[in-house]
Amino acid sequence: MIQAVIFDLDGVIVDTAHYHFIAWRRLAKELGIHFTEQENEQLKGVSRMRSLEIILELGNLRLSQEEMERLAEKKNQWFVDYINAMKPGEIFPGVKELIQDIRANGIKVALASSSKNAHTVLDLLNIGGLFDAIVDGTMITHTKPDPEIFLLAANKLNIPPPQCLVFEDAEAGVEAAVAAGMKCIGVGSPQQLSKANVVVPKTVDFDINRIKII
Ligand code: BG6
Ligand code: MG
Repeated sequence: MIQAVIFDLDGVIVDTAHYHFIAWRRLAKELGIHFTEQENEQLKGVSRMRSLEIILELGNLRLSQEEMERLAEKKNQWFVDYINAMKPGEIFPGVKELIQDIRANGIKVALASSSKNAHTVLDLLNIGGLFDAIVDGTMITHTKPDPEIFLLAANKLNIPPPQCLVFEDAEAGVEAAVAAGMKCIGVGSPQQLSKANVVVPKTVDFDINRIKII
């Protein structure tokens, strides 16, 4: 029986996944690398530095550590500029109510995001108070697909992993949830997220009553 629900942030609660994509595409363009939305799927859920490595691999480019750090920082500055222009209303419609509904059913709720900007996004949307525990990219050693982030969230909630249900839009995130021994709702395309227990087009498409039969 599910006792806790763990939400990813970017692409599950709000469309910041799109802001990550346009910032990376802007950087790739500067480097002369063609970068598509399809290729961007590999960047979802992984760390900032790993994302940059994937882009450089796509362009067969090798750079020094120092240069990579400068580029990652540049992309992050663009991303921060995009999200600072965001309004609380940009949360996906119905997601706040879904989280409130889950809580009203006596189920704990955590956030587990690989992003080091997670708190900024939660503050901008004014939803930090909805979570019993928050784990972000500053608190982990290994990002998704490693299960560390979800295991830490479960630990903070004091709920065993098999009783946790994860919402994820990233292939790496679904893999991390499965590796943590948790159930997973994939948000997006069934082809991309085939390892999830259930896939829904949008987070709000998940019917809370199904929690009992997952
Ligand atoms: C994840 C995103 O939530 O956070 C990734 O899905 C992103 O695309 C990662 O690279 C790290 O984010 P940040 O904000 O620390 O650069
Ligand atoms: Mg995501």
